[in-house]
Amino acid sequence: MTSALLLGATKGLGLELAREGARRNLSPIIYGRSASEPNAITEIPPQAVLYPIDLHSAERVQHAPLPTTPVAFFFWVAGAFHKGPLQQTEPSEIDLHTDLHFRGPVQFLRRFLRHQAEPFHLVTIGSVSSWRLREDEALYCGLKAAQTAFTRNFAVELVRDRPGSQVTLINPGGLNIPTFWEKWESTAPDLGGFLDPGQVARIIWDLTLTQTEPFRETQLMRRKPHGSGVDPIIEHHPRCPEVLGNLNQGKTP
Ligand SMILES: NC(=O)c1ccc[n+]([C@@H]2O[C@H](COP(=O)([O-])OP(=O)(O)OC[C@H]3O[C@@H](n4cnc5c(N)ncnc54)[C@H](OP(=O)(O)O)[C@@H]3O)[C@@H](O)[C@H]2O)c1
Repeated sequence: MTSALLLGATKGLGLELAREGARRNLSPIIYGRSASEPNAITEIPPQAVLYPIDLHSAERVQHAPLPTTPVAFFFWVAGAFHKGPLQQTEPSEIDLHTDLHFRGPVQFLRRFLRHQAEPFHLVTIGSVSSWRLREDEALYCGLKAAQTAFTRNFAVELVRDRPGSQVTLINPGGLNIPTFWEKWESTAPDLGGFLDPGQVARIIWDLTLTQTEPFRETQLMRRKPHGSGVDPIIEHHPRCPEVLGNLNQGKTP
């Protein structure tokens, strides 16, 4: 059975992608801290394998188990939201988010590359926050921009060095995933008009499995205002970063 490695799939969008992959006869290999407590994870696909990893720990990234057979898909999903002015952000929070969104996944991907010689399809879950201008989200937006810039540039070497490999970069808008927002109750948005993660997982698998070109970047955005439709707006092209025009006019984003 073809396998799909999912880095950060014990809940949220990653778990939806694992379930949807299993429905398509793929065997998910699920990574995350809570992979060591499978009872805490709901509706794990029966054919899934769970491997613990903590992306905050260089040591655990270096020693996490790797798949025992070649995988066809590598989903880079792990992430966590952060909001707050930099001045009020703890030094430890900066390290934690940098490890989770960038250092840890890049180190793990390097290990994986040296472990598996076969071509594979990298699917990166970025965010529209990689190009949007948002207030008090410089750390989160900056790290999502680093992840997406890395993915575009890494695609060049992956398809050059491993013919047959492909890269898909997906930038979703706000998703109705309470676990992503749970630490931010006081500032959390109303998730009512946010994208349904099950539907987004189906769209991501459809796009991944029908992609013919080596690289594709897709924006999956919610319709605004709320209630104007539930299907995401889908754009198959990169977006230019939003600029400071609003700030220059004395307005916040
Ligand atoms: N939710 C949204 O509105 C939204 C919108 C656009 C983009 N995104 C992006 O989508 C991705 C998934 O977010 P989500 O909404 O599914 O969030 P989520 O429900 O909080 O899930 C995050 C996943 O990352 C894993 N993770 C967190 N810290 C980790 C660590 N230290 N080591 C290993 N794994 C870790 C979690 O597993 P453990 O807790 O078991 O470690 C979990 O499986 C993120 O990259 C996020 O930036 C989300």
